Amino acid sequence: MVRDTFVGSDGICDVLDPIQEQKATGLFQAQTHLYGQMFNYLNSMSLMCAAQLGIPDIIHNHGRPVTLPELVSALHIPPNKTSCMYRLMRMLVHSGFFATTEAVTGGGGGGGGGGEAYVLTPPSQLLVKDNTNCLSPFLSLINPAFVTPWHSLGDWFRGSEPTAFQQAYGMAFWDYNTQNPELNSLFNAAMACDSQMMNFVIKDSKPIFEGLDSIVDVGGGTGSLARIISETFPHMNCTVLEIPQVVSSLEGTENLKYVGGDMFQHIPSADAVILKLIFHGWSDEDCVKILKKCKEAISSKGKGGKVIIVDVVINEKKDEHELTETKLLFDMLMMVVAAGKERSVEEWERLFLEAGFSHYKITSLFGLRSLIEVYP
Ligand SMILES: C[S@@+](CC[C@H](N)C(=O)[O-])C[C@H]1O[C@@H](n2cnc3c(N)ncnc32)[C@H](O)[C@@H]1O
Repeated sequence: MVRDTFVGSDGICDVLDPIQEQKATGLFQAQTHLYGQMFNYLNSMSLMCAAQLGIPDIIHNHGRPVTLPELVSALHIPPNKTSCMYRLMRMLVHSGFFATTEAVTGGGGGGGGGGEAYVLTPPSQLLVKDNTNCLSPFLSLINPAFVTPWHSLGDWFRGSEPTAFQQAYGMAFWDYNTQNPELNSLFNAAMACDSQMMNFVIKDSKPIFEGLDSIVDVGGGTGSLARIISETFPHMNCTVLEIPQVVSSLEGTENLKYVGGDMFQHIPSADAVILKLIFHGWSDEDCVKILKKCKEAISSKGKGGKVIIVDVVINEKKDEHELTETKLLFDMLMMVVAAGKERSVEEWERLFLEAGFSHYKITSLFGLRSLIEVYP
C-alpha cells in the first residue's frame, strides 16, 4: 500500500508546519478535555449499573477472578449482550473500579478479553454486600431525584429560589424527603452506611470521648454512629436527636435512645453533642443557630462540655488533587440540594466565633472528613 502522508509520533501529519502543529495539538487536547468532562457523568452511570447488577458481589462470591463468559452467565444476560458487558467492564477497569488479571482456569475472556479475568479493587470492595463497610446504598445519591435539579442550574442562578432542588420540586429538600418515604429510606440507608465507616475512627479516638458520660448525636439519622459510640463506651448515655419520622419506629438499647425533635428548637442536654455531616447542609446563618443550641445543650458541663463535628474541611493547598476534587463535588451537591456548603478552616472559625465559642481543634483523621472539637 502506498501512503502519501506521514504521521509523526504525536499523531499529527508532518505536512503541518511546527507552529500550526502546536496550535492543532493544543486544540485537540482541549477538545479531548472538554468531551471527557462532558461525558464524565457516564462514569457515575456505569458504576451505578455495575452495582445494580450486583457485579461486585458476583466477583467477590466467585472465589477467583471472573472471566467475561462466567460473568455473563452469572448475570443471566442474553449472549448477544456479551460484547456490551465487555465494554462496560472495560470502562470500569479504566476508571479503577475493577482490575484484570490472568484467568485462573481456561475460561477464556471472550469479547476481546483473551484469557483475562476481573478482580475487585479497593473501591469496588466497598460495594460488596458482605462487607461490614458496604457503601452501595450511598449510590442512591445519584438517583434521578438528586440529578434532575442539575438540568436547570443555569436558570436557578438567574432566579430567586434558595436552591436548584427547590426550583425543581417546589419545596426544600428536607420537606420533599419527608413527603417521599421511599426516597427518605434510601437517603437514611445511604447515610447509615457512610456512618458505619466511623467504626474505624471511634475505637482509635478514645481520648476525644474521655470524661464524657452522655452525648447527643444531633441529626444522627437511624443511629449508625450513635450505636458505634454506645458499644465502644458502654458507660455513656447516647441519644439520637432526629426528625420524628426518621426515628419514630426505631428501638434503642440500654444506653442508646432515640428522640424525635427539631435541632433548631431544642437539643437535649448532655456532656457533648456530636454532629456528623450536618453543618455542610445548612447556610452560615442556620449553622450559627444550630451551634447556639449546641452550646445551650452542653452548658451543664460548664467548660468541660464540647461540640464534636465530623465534616469536610476544604484545604486546597494541602490536600491532594483527588481529595480536593471530591470535596468540591460535595460542595456543589450541597449548593444544589440544600443551600449548604463545604467550608475552609477560616469559614468554620467564623461560625464558631459568631456562635460564642472560644476555641476549637481540627484533626484530619480520615479521607474526606475531619473531626473538629469546639469548646465554649
Ligand atoms: C446529611 S444527614 C446526616 C445523618 C447522620 N448524621 C450521618 O452522618 O449519617 C442530615 C440529617 O439531619 C436530619 N435533620 C434535618 N433537619 C433536622 C432538624 N431540624 N432536626 C433534627 N434533625 C434534622 C436529617 O433527617 C438527616 O438524617
